[in-house]
Amino acid sequence: MPTLFDRAIAGVLPAVPRPVVRKVSSRYIAGESFDDVVRIARELRGAGLRCTMDILGENTHSPEQARQAAADYLALVDRQAEVDVDRNVSIKLSQLGLALDRQLCLDGMRGIVARSAALGGKVRIDMEDSSLTDDTLWVYRSLREEFANVGVVLQAYLHRTLADVAALASLSPAPDYRLCKGIYVEPPEVAIQDHAGINRNFLAALGAMFDGGSYVGIATHDEALVEGAKAMIAERGLGPDRYEFQMLLGVQERLRDRIVAEGHPLRVYLPYGREWYAYCMRRLKENPSVAGHVFRAMFGQG
Ligand code: FDA
Repeated sequence: MPTLFDRAIAGVLPAVPRPVVRKVSSRYIAGESFDDVVRIARELRGAGLRCTMDILGENTHSPEQARQAAADYLALVDRQAEVDVDRNVSIKLSQLGLALDRQLCLDGMRGIVARSAALGGKVRIDMEDSSLTDDTLWVYRSLREEFANVGVVLQAYLHRTLADVAALASLSPAPDYRLCKGIYVEPPEVAIQDHAGINRNFLAALGAMFDGGSYVGIATHDEALVEGAKAMIAERGLGPDRYEFQMLLGVQERLRDRIVAEGHPLRVYLPYGREWYAYCMRRLKENPSVAGHVFRAMFGQG
């Protein structure tokens, strides 16, 4: 949860000169171009890591913007197949117009998921704020009627998440999940507010996902959750066909290297694109606790 310090920093950061924001954010963002992100994906692969790519984008305000975003992702899926990198993309549905017209968004997604399926790739639907949860799951379910190569993110801080896992258990094959805590600021009616409660719900949801036969991307930099997940994996005797850890670029790299050295699969989330500045500012507004991380990184304590 954001501290007063984080909120204060979030308020001040928009006044920080663009080149400074760029320097700070460069640790978390894989660059502006496809060549930039491919270079990083290859470096990571050399260290035994997988990747997923995310094209940074602003909230979409028109059907044209939504169609352009879908075309950009389609081109990304093609380009991943042309060069030697993981065929895996992560997509925020608001970029494809979810808040404007969910059918438009579904149509865009259908093209991307179909192309990815033809190329042996995988598409992961990121989860955004709680106003979009139902529609995001609607798009996910609709796609699953046609395709198996699409996964969705659930957020452990939402009160509804265990019920969502139970409802999605009717899908066959079992859903492919990413489980994360959740980044958006949500009210207490919607989301658990305390760290211990979120972590308890994270492990409960992870257990339910495993028990339902799902493949889970365990997306966290929290050492306690990593240890809890590892214990669950060992107790259930799960192999790497059932899980991977996932982390954001530039975060907790020592923990990341340890997980990999222990032989667990790990995927790094690589956001890239020209919209890096707007993206940073939007994330800061969405969740001031990110601002604290940026500030600490500026002073070498990140
Ligand atoms: P926690 O916040 O407790 O952090 C654990 C440790 O990591 C702390 O020491 C903290 O300082 C450090 N840390 C965490 N984030 C950091 C950062 N950005 N910079 C520097 N240090 C950081 N959310 C969402 O709502 N929808 C989504 O689709 C996704 N997708 C997603 C993909 C992947 C691969 C990851 C790793 C995360 C997400 N998230 C997300 C974000 C997620 O919900 C969550 O906000 C962050 O991962 C932080 O939570 P942790 O579990 O890491 O724990």
